[in-house]
Amino acid sequence: MLVLLPALVHSFYLPGVAPRDYKKGEPVPVLVNALTAKDSLLPYDYYHPGFSFCTPDKEISQHESLGSILFGDRLYNSPIELPALENQTCKVICRKSIQDTSVDFLMKRIDEEYLVNWVVDGLPAAQLYKDESTSEVFYYPGMPLGLVEGEQTLLHNHYVIHVHYHKKDADKIRVVGVIVNPASLDNPKDAEPKCDIAGSSPVILKTSTQTEVTYTYTLVWNEDPISWGTRWDHYLHVYDPQIHWFSIVNAIVIILILASMVTMILLRALHKDISRYNTLGDEDGAQDDFGWKMVHADVFRAPAYRMILCVLLGTGAQLICMLGVTLAFAVLGFLSPSSRGSLGTMALVFYILFSVVSGYVSSVMYKTYGGENRKQNVLLTAVLVPGIVFGILIALNFILIAKESSSAVPFGTFLALIGLWFLVSIPLCIAGSYFGFRHPGFEPPCKTNQIPRQIPPQDYLWVWKSFNASAASGFYMFVYSIVFLAGKLDLKDAASVVIYLTWSLVMSIMLAIFTGTVGHLASLYFVRTIYKSIKID
Ligand SMILES: *[C@@H]1O[C@H](CO)[C@@H](O)[C@H](O)[C@H]1NC(C)=O
Repeated sequence: MLVLLPALVHSFYLPGVAPRDYKKGEPVPVLVNALTAKDSLLPYDYYHPGFSFCTPDKEISQHESLGSILFGDRLYNSPIELPALENQTCKVICRKSIQDTSVDFLMKRIDEEYLVNWVVDGLPAAQLYKDESTSEVFYYPGMPLGLVEGEQTLLHNHYVIHVHYHKKDADKIRVVGVIVNPASLDNPKDAEPKCDIAGSSPVILKTSTQTEVTYTYTLVWNEDPISWGTRWDHYLHVYDPQIHWFSIVNAIVIILILASMVTMILLRALHKDISRYNTLGDEDGAQDDFGWKMVHADVFRAPAYRMILCVLLGTGAQLICMLGVTLAFAVLGFLSPSSRGSLGTMALVFYILFSVVSGYVSSVMYKTYGGENRKQNVLLTAVLVPGIVFGILIALNFILIAKESSSAVPFGTFLALIGLWFLVSIPLCIAGSYFGFRHPGFEPPCKTNQIPRQIPPQDYLWVWKSFNASAASGFYMFVYSIVFLAGKLDLKDAASVVIYLTWSLVMSIMLAIFTGTVGHLASLYFVRTIYKSIKID
C-alpha cells in the first residue's frame, strides 16, 4: 500500500480544497488564526484585546471542522485584503493607541516568542528558513509578534507580504505561497507613513506606557514556477528524512529477528511436548501429567475482574479499527494538510462509528469468560473510556479558560461532542453488543474444573498477564514523554506542563489499551491452539 498509493495522492482533491482562481485586482482575503508559541501550549485569540490588532468592521468567526476546532484553530476575517497582481507599498491598515495594560500583555507575549498566524487562500503565511544540514530552504508557518533586542522589546507593526502565484492563463492566477516578513517601524503619528525599513527607528514598548502604533503592509506579487498541486511541499519539511527511514527500518528488522527467534524456540519446545503428550497418552494414560498439560483444567478459568478486562478489550478493538482506517485514509491522501483539521475530524468520526465494534468485541469476550451481567457490560463499554477522556477535557478546559487561552473548547463544540456520544456512539455500542451476545462465545478446547487447584501462579494466570505485558508499552511511552519534557521541551508556564502531561497520559492509556488488546487476543489464540492440539481425556 505504502509503495503504490502515493501515485494516487495527486490525482484527486476533496471538495473544499479545490483550487481557486483570482482575476487581476480581485481581493484575496487574509484570515487570522490563534497566536501560538513553540514553548507554550496556550494559544491566544487573534482578537484578544491585549494584542490590539486592527479589527475588521465585524469579526466573523469562520466555519471550521470539529477536528480543526478541537486542535485549536480559531479563524476570523481581518481588515487586510490583497488585490491580486497589484503591488502596493506602505498601505496603512489602521492606527491604534495601545493601552498601558495591553502593552504589558504584549511585552509578555513577545518575550514568550508568540507567533502571528495568518491564512491566505488556505495557505499559512510563513517565513523562510534554511535547513543547515542540507541547505534546503523551506517555509515555516507564523511570524514573530515582536522581538526582544537586549533590554528593548520591539513590536512588529509592518508586514512585507510576498505572495507567490502561478499564472493559470492570461488573466487568472493561483496562490502557491505566502511569505511574510514583519518589521518594526515607528511612523510618526500624524505624518504620511514612509515604511523605510532601513531608515526608520523601531516601535519600542515600555512597561505600562500607552503607545501609538500605525500598522502597515507592503505587498509584492512574485511569479513562481511551482504549481498549485505541489504548493504544500515547501511547508512539509522533514529534518533528516534519511535518519527517520533508518530508524524505522532498524526497528522493524530488530522486531522481526527477535520475534522469529522466540517463535522458533517456542515451536521446537511445543512440537516436542505435543508429540510426547499424544504418544504417551496412547500407552499409559496415568503418566501424562507433566508440563503445561497439567493445568488444562484451570487455564481457561475466567479471570478476576473479567468485566473491566472485556470493556478494555472492546475499547482496544475500537481503537485498532479507528487507527487502521484513519491510517489507510491518510495514505490515500485524504488527510492532506490543505483541509485543516481533517485528521482530527476523521479520527473522531471513526472512533464514534467503531463503537459498534467495541460493543461487539466486549460482549463476545464477556460471554467467552462466562460473564452474565450484560447490561453493565454494555453500559461500561459505552461510557468508561469516553467518559474519562471527556472528564479530562472538561477539567483542562477550566485551566484554559482561566488562562484566557483560545484553545478552550467552545460550549457549542461540547454540545456537539455530547450529542455525537449519546445519539450516535452509545446506540452503536448497544447494537454491537446485541449481535455480540448472539455469538456463542469462544468454547474453550478443554473443560475447566469447578474447584481451582493449587498451582504456582506463573503457570496459569495468563489472562491479565498477557494484557498487562503488552500494555506496558503505554507505560514506556508515558515515561518517555516525561523524559522528552525534561530534555527537549522548554515549556515556560505550569499550565502548559499540566496540559502536556495530561494529554501524554491520555495518549499513553490509549496506547496501553491498544497494545494490551493485541497482546491478549494473540495469547488467547495461541493458548487455545496449543490446547486444541493435545488429547485430553
Ligand atoms: C511586483 O514587484 C516585484 C518585485 O519588485 C516584481 O518582480 C513584480 O513583477 C511586480 N509585480 C507586478 C504585478 O507588478
